[in-house]
Amino acid sequence: MSPVSTQLTGTVLVITIDHPPVNALSHAVRAGIVRALEAAPANTSAAVLQCAGRTFFSGADISEFGKPPQAPTLSEAIEALENAPFPVVAAIHGQALGGGLEIALGCDFRVMDAKARVGLPEVTLGLIPGAGGTQRLPRIAGMALALEMASQGKPISAAKALETGIADAIAESDLVASALAFAKSKSRNDKRSTGARPNPETDASAVDYWRAHAAKRQRGQKAPLAAIDAVEASATLDIASGLKRERELFLERMSDTQSAAMRHLFFAERKSAKLPGPRTDPLPLERAAVIGSGTMGVGIAASLLSAGLSVKLLDMSDQALQAGYNRIKTIFQNDVTKGRLSEAGCSEILGRLAATTQYSDLSDSDIVIEAVFEDIEIKHKVFAQLANVVGEQTVLATNTSYLDVDAIAERVANPERVLGLHFFSPAHIMRLLEVVRGKKTSAMVLASAMQLGKRMRKVAAVSGVCHGFIGNRMLSCYGREAGLMLLEGASPRQIDKALTDFGMPMGPFTMGDMAGLDIGYMNRQKLDPESFEQRAFLVHDRLVEMDRKGQKTGSGFYRYEKGDRTPLDDEAFDDVLRAVRSEQGISLREFDDSDIVDRCMLGLINEGAKILDEGIAWRGSDIDVVYANGYGFPRYRGGPMFYADTIGLDAVLAGIRANAERFGDRWWTPSNLLLRLAESGERLSAYETQSGALS
Ligand code: COA
Repeated sequence: MSPVSTQLTGTVLVITIDHPPVNALSHAVRAGIVRALEAAPANTSAAVLQCAGRTFFSGADISEFGKPPQAPTLSEAIEALENAPFPVVAAIHGQALGGGLEIALGCDFRVMDAKARVGLPEVTLGLIPGAGGTQRLPRIAGMALALEMASQGKPISAAKALETGIADAIAESDLVASALAFAKSKSRNDKRSTGARPNPETDASAVDYWRAHAAKRQRGQKAPLAAIDAVEASATLDIASGLKRERELFLERMSDTQSAAMRHLFFAERKSAKLPGPRTDPLPLERAAVIGSGTMGVGIAASLLSAGLSVKLLDMSDQALQAGYNRIKTIFQNDVTKGRLSEAGCSEILGRLAATTQYSDLSDSDIVIEAVFEDIEIKHKVFAQLANVVGEQTVLATNTSYLDVDAIAERVANPERVLGLHFFSPAHIMRLLEVVRGKKTSAMVLASAMQLGKRMRKVAAVSGVCHGFIGNRMLSCYGREAGLMLLEGASPRQIDKALTDFGMPMGPFTMGDMAGLDIGYMNRQKLDPESFEQRAFLVHDRLVEMDRKGQKTGSGFYRYEKGDRTPLDDEAFDDVLRAVRSEQGISLREFDDSDIVDRCMLGLINEGAKILDEGIAWRGSDIDVVYANGYGFPRYRGGPMFYADTIGLDAVLAGIRANAERFGDRWWTPSNLLLRLAESGERLSAYETQSGALS
């Protein structure tokens, strides 16, 4: 059945698209629209184009990208709208995104629901609009706004759309009724096609501004600059030449790995939230408790409150509790100051927050998340106290970065309700949530955690239990190689720069200084010395022992001026490095930036493949989701597993083997999965493991 249906109301033709879940502009939709226009009765005075379900068109069908185009293309469907012998009114609710906005711009008029938004998010997929968005939008709303929308990808509100001429009216109440009334007020001659409008005025300063902005804030990404080029062309080219230029730039982006990488992440992020196997209904989680009112507890409580849950915050002392409570209050008050939240909204949220020092107050909790000090004995005590007061069904979550969730669950009655929720700091801002399934965690508890992640607007990915779970276990290999290269002759500055040039937001040494070098130091003290490469951290340890703990002490790998976070070179550090190198009798060598990137990336990839082979991660794409959302891995490289596929698994293996030959195979034994996939020609980022299936 066609997703497109029509109905006549007097002489107004109402074209309705019903293509769940989000009315993507798939082939059947495009064909249906063209057919509906062609079949319009000869006396049609106007048409309304509307979508059923939760939103107007969410854009081109991303799953069709990379496949041979099927006529009618989106541009052809838009052309049919522009050339229709009667005006067409788009009735926009939900979101009109990408192709959705382009099709609306192909209509003669736009009526919007007051809560609707319109945008050109193609850059978030490494693309630019490809069906006239960069040419029609500036003709309606001017260069400056079109440059911003096309290069930044952020949607704008209905109010802004009205102010800038994108919308012609905002529906007072019922959108369809308003659009219909609007259409009835028009006659067949009221055509006002956007493409026929004059060129927008050139705005050189806006072009310069957005180019500089893109170079700085979207470093390494090609799409924002291409979007700016296309919009800039709209000022001088006639519409046909402008559309041609846009098409060329679009096709260049579409065939580039950056777009393939970002499209991979789009689907990977939606997949990671899904559990394999039969659907399990999640538990309703409405009443939450958070134990510990430090930085993590505060961020977790704020996330839960934003998701609509009621939260009880527990800490040992009134003083700590008050401080935590105040910090949560500040988070929401800042949102009010920035105009993101109303006063009433803020009061409603804070009305759901309570504070207590008594475990007995938590008895009615649906879920408890502990965020106390990262020490298993302390965590055991917390869980023992909790088990005494909460019901048998209450989900018990530990927020831990490294600890053994199974060991914690073992001592708790009904261990199937225990799991790890690894939030990233600051927890109310960082998007990633690693959901750690213990050996006994039930499918229902896991499904509940995934749904909670979605409510908190996080990207959740499941990890099995191992030291550091997916993200930190891989990171330890990246950090190890960076530390070893430091001993072998590279400077922190060179390593940091090579990796930031690759696209990481910060290099490992700047990052270490920012986080505090004592944190890693303390963690290493608890580890079996045989379990990690001690040499890689000799310099780190020496720095901590000299009270050079990073930014907080004014020096670490770099030196810092008071009140300034800029890492400065430091001769005192050079002395430390020289001393450690000479104690180790290391003969120094020169590094190319590409050596540095390869060694760190191969470390990440090999460990990621092992994690996948062990069933700790279910999907290669889950690993990419973890790295892109929790560790700043450049989205335009798709994550470490996708990056490995881009290089080619044969080349990855050759690199790992070469490292094994040079540095020994203690850390460089190739993952068996890598060997198998390189042999079979499959992709690491598409690999899904069968092990670890849910009971
Ligand atoms: N093409 C194909 N599939 C799409 C799609 C598109 N443009 N937009 C969304 N989907 C799919 C998702 O993959 C998901 O599929 P799944 O249920 O099998 O996982 C489903 O629609 C629902 O999407 P989801 O993102 O989970 O819903 P949401 O309500 O949270 O968000 C949107 C809805 C429209 C805001 C969001 O999906 C979105 O931003 N889409 C992309 C918009 C875009 O970039 N358009 C320009 C394309 S060039």
